[in-house]
Amino acid sequence: MNADKDRPYGTGDASFQAAGSEAGLRKLVDEFFDRMGSDERFATIYAMHPEDKEVSRDKLARFLCGWLGGPKLYNEKYGAIGIPRVHAHLAIGTTERDQWLTCMTETVSEQGFAADFKVYLMEQLYVPAEAVRRRCAANESADQ
Ligand code: HEM
Repeated sequence: MNADKDRPYGTGDASFQAAGSEAGLRKLVDEFFDRMGSDERFATIYAMHPEDKEVSRDKLARFLCGWLGGPKLYNEKYGAIGIPRVHAHLAIGTTERDQWLTCMTETVSEQGFAADFKVYLMEQLYVPAEAVRRRCAANESADQ
């Protein structure tokens, strides 16, 4: 369901606009990392990130801009990226994947996005989150 039938989410930059463009995504990502760092339920995944979370915030916000059909800001600054690949060195199983998704769901729920976009966004984010988990699981079995 989409209020704007001519521009469904996933078409052109409709999702990027629905997220409030770059400013909306930077706000989302800042609040995502604030929540991750202040809630014990997300301590495991917070500790996996580099000490300086400013770069992590910048990278995720820029990535989401392009991923949602907006400007390719990650590529402009950091180059090409494959989401499963950049997580391959990490121990991400179902528990860590779900910490990430729960932290993001709770943060998304507090944004001023349309209700149907919140549902759409979390359905879309599940796909790369699960791809990350599978990539990390493949590493583990290769080690044995
Ligand atoms: C499945 C759960 C996930 C966990 C636990 C997780 C955790 C992490 C961690 C710890 C890093 C820092 C890696 C390092 O610098 O050594 C990272 C980087 C990153 N993650 Fe995730 N992540 C998850 C899913 C996702 C998803 C679904 C996306 C995108 C939709 C994403 C986007 C990124 C980006 C863009 C970076 C920066 C990569 C770089 O340039 O170094 N992550 N993630």
